[in-house]
Amino acid sequence: MISLPPKQWWWSSSLILILLTIILIAAEHTSRVIALPIKTTITTTTDFTPTQVHLAFTNSTHPNALVISFHTKNYNKEWLGMPIVKYSAMDSTLSHHYEQSAESSVFQYGNTQVTGYDFHVWIPNLKFSTKYYYQCTFSQMQNISSEIYNFYTKTDPKQAQHEVHTVIMYGDQGTTNSKNVIARTTEYIHSYFGNKENNNNLFVYHLGDISYADDFAGVQYQPIWNQYMDMMANIMPYVPYMVCVGNHENGPQNKPYDDFERGFMAYNHRFFMPGRNSSLIGHNMWHSFENGLVTFVAIDTETNFPHSFFPQFNFQNKIDQLEWLSDTLSKIDRKKTPWVVVVGHRPIYSSQYIFSAANGSIIGESKILQQAFEDILYKYQVDIAMFGHVHSYERTNPVYRTQVEPGTANSNHFHNLRYTIHIVNGAGGNTEGLTPGKDFYLGQSWASKIFYQDEGYGILKSRFDSNLNVYSLEFNYYAAKTNELVDSFTVTKNA
Ligand SMILES: *[C@@H]1O[C@H](CO)[C@@H](O)[C@H](O)[C@H]1NC(C)=O
Ligand SMILES: *[C@@H]1O[C@H](CO)[C@@H](O)[C@H](O)[C@H]1NC(C)=O
Ligand SMILES: *[C@@H]1O[C@H](CO)[C@@H](O)[C@H](O)[C@H]1NC(C)=O
Ligand SMILES: *[C@@H]1O[C@H](CO)[C@@H](O)[C@H](O)[C@H]1NC(C)=O
Ligand SMILES: [Fe+2]
Repeated sequence: MISLPPKQWWWSSSLILILLTIILIAAEHTSRVIALPIKTTITTTTDFTPTQVHLAFTNSTHPNALVISFHTKNYNKEWLGMPIVKYSAMDSTLSHHYEQSAESSVFQYGNTQVTGYDFHVWIPNLKFSTKYYYQCTFSQMQNISSEIYNFYTKTDPKQAQHEVHTVIMYGDQGTTNSKNVIARTTEYIHSYFGNKENNNNLFVYHLGDISYADDFAGVQYQPIWNQYMDMMANIMPYVPYMVCVGNHENGPQNKPYDDFERGFMAYNHRFFMPGRNSSLIGHNMWHSFENGLVTFVAIDTETNFPHSFFPQFNFQNKIDQLEWLSDTLSKIDRKKTPWVVVVGHRPIYSSQYIFSAANGSIIGESKILQQAFEDILYKYQVDIAMFGHVHSYERTNPVYRTQVEPGTANSNHFHNLRYTIHIVNGAGGNTEGLTPGKDFYLGQSWASKIFYQDEGYGILKSRFDSNLNVYSLEFNYYAAKTNELVDSFTVTKNA
């Protein structure tokens, strides 16, 4: 199977669109009686209604920009014009507003009757720490629009020292068994912004395996993606929803499906992560950005490293993943962002018996990942590495090559660590269910805490403590049904 970097997919699909348009225009000129399919569908305006609105941070060159994305079933550029976002910091009805359409991308691939259209509008120069109202629509047909939503922009990075920054984190979600985690996340977001004592710095990180559309029949692939995105309508329009890639993003696994759906296509078209539009990266498979005192670096545990799990897909555009990773980590200014958190999907450390042996050595898929990534994480002193894939929660002691950092075992408070703490946070709720307790070796020397009794989610907070003159990174994990605190730890380092 040929896999092209998304830029080329985009160009080839826009070429097809241009050709189709020419054919349609030509048809219109030669005969008045030809019923153009695209014209007849125009009467169903709901087909053009922007849905599945979601937000994302851009790369840190533009800390005051966001990308606003949405999806439609159908699109006709001549009739609708370009995708735009109307937004205002004052006016919740948007009768006075700015419009942004200068930088936008219309993505399509395969058969658009199946895949629909994905739109991404870049909104630069937002004011920091500000509430905005916004609506997604089209330049020529502004009566076809999404609801009016709102978001809060983050603190000016220059002031990051003074503000707590919060991230809701989980992996492996989908449309089944995810009700509780989705409800908790919704509650958390809306009460966070409702509480005057909180600032604006909140976003969600989904650690791969997003919709699980591939677990259904092939024809259900896009409908399940749409259903998942619709289920997130109280979350995704309100906070940046950052994602990294998991094995379930590849494409449909069950027949009947179309080949154009495979190769991480839905993932690379529906989302717009930092790097999606950069000439160096050009896809959503790996990325990094700064948020407060943390640099987040998302790695691709699926493709583009030695013995990867999908060697048939090559996303190496201008730079190899591991080269990019070392380069990115080496350039982080630890005075500006003292913390580095790496996120990915498949874990290096899991006590599940297919990933580690009874004697604690790393085996199977995890061995491959350990060989590709662990030395890089160690070399650049990554503080926390968080993954999904196993449908449970697990935290390691600070660890490198299965050796626990001396003096740190089974603690909940760490100071000036040298090794990385690894977390598995993959119980977002999905159709495959929780990983049962009998699948784990309990008591691995590097393991610290395991929880497999319920779905759950994590809350990561970074802050500067001026009394102690330390930076701190606090992680709490909650069970979704009871919202009970299951695990809590803090890492600090001297400022
Ligand atoms: C960040 O994004 C801007 C605009 O999209 C781009 O010009 C720049 O090259 C990107 N920087 C990196 C490091 O990717
Ligand atoms: C992505 O890059 C293309 C080509 O430079 C540009 O036309 C488009 O506006 C960009 N999209 C976004 C969302 O920034
Ligand atoms: C939207 O406006 C256009 C012209 O501005 C009009 O032709 C169309 O009927 C309107 N559609 C709806 C759904 O109101
Ligand atoms: C640990 O167990 C694995 C799998 O059973 C085995 O291959 C490996 O040699 C063992 N390692 C040590 C250090 O005993
Ligand atoms: Fe997975």
